Amino acid sequence: MRLQNRKEMNLSKIDELLEKVSNLYAEKEQDIEELRVKLLGKKGEITALFDEFRTVAPEYKREFGQKLNVLKNAALSKIEELKAKAEERGSSEKASFDLTKPGDKMDMGSRHPISITRQEILSIFKKFGYSVAEGPEIEDDWHVFGALNFPPEHPARDMQDTFFINNQSDNNILLRTHTSSVQVRTMESMGLPIRVVCPGRVFRNEAISARAHCIFHQVEGLYIDKNVSFADLKQAVLLFAQEMFGADTQIRMRPSYFPFTEPSAEVDVSCNICKGKGCNICKGTGWLEIMGCGMVDPNVLKASGIDPEVYSGFAFGMGIERIAMLKWQVKDLRHYFENDVRFLKEFETVI
Ligand code: PHE
Repeated sequence: MRLQNRKEMNLSKIDELLEKVSNLYAEKEQDIEELRVKLLGKKGEITALFDEFRTVAPEYKREFGQKLNVLKNAALSKIEELKAKAEERGSSEKASFDLTKPGDKMDMGSRHPISITRQEILSIFKKFGYSVAEGPEIEDDWHVFGALNFPPEHPARDMQDTFFINNQSDNNILLRTHTSSVQVRTMESMGLPIRVVCPGRVFRNEAISARAHCIFHQVEGLYIDKNVSFADLKQAVLLFAQEMFGADTQIRMRPSYFPFTEPSAEVDVSCNICKGKGCNICKGTGWLEIMGCGMVDPNVLKASGIDPEVYSGFAFGMGIERIAMLKWQVKDLRHYFENDVRFLKEFETVI
């Protein structure tokens, strides 16, 4: 009889606790932990029932034990459920935005020194009335060499170690070695007079070093009209040099050779670092080479259908990397291609 009562007492306690467990509620993780300890901790109510289980008469142990396990599992899963909900709430709180807070500062990009220099060169020539023309990087032999008075098989073609594109049907396709090809295209398509600057990437099969790269950028210029003389060329180059390197800049021209110009010259500017006195940038000479130029060869005019008896013109070409190196005293050309952020950041303040 005593055992019978005891069994009933415990079963009703289990039912009571089951009811309590199903209504358990807490939001904070700390409160949930408190509930767990109250029920399942060392001195917890459910733990106490497990202790009592030992005193239950053997014939009731099975039923009692089963019920007790149901209670324990219900309590465990309730606690887990509350914890999961609390966690979910916590992470969604973290993810929600405070719309009144200022945004994260974004790092601004800046223009690449080659783009800055290209733009500066072009804007100087635009002021002089030149327009800008661009053309394809993959070219044919005619536009890069043939129309520019490079005779077939002439060693002059080797002057500009060319990347040929191996195309079985046609091996005249190549990567342009200079943007003079755009000048040819302009002569073919544009009415006269012509005053144009041609910026772009060019390709030469050269070993990469501090002073040379197989890809670089050029701006070439062409001016064709009636009565254009070498004096006009000299004046255009001088004005450009003074705009680019400073009003006190001097130029000098040294005789040179290009198949497409006659006469031809290399242009030097007075060293803007030592003002002509001689330093390690100009290697003690006081002069820095900046471009090639010359009067357009009559054969070049003829090849594009322009009458050299009526028209004459001049052309010039410069490497953008070289101008940028002189302007900012960058000693290694490879910096322009590696895009190391520490290098690029130096140009952030240049507009
Ligand atoms: N095309 C020449 C070069 O790439 C530069 C140049 C252009 C020289 C026009 C003279 C006249 O080196």
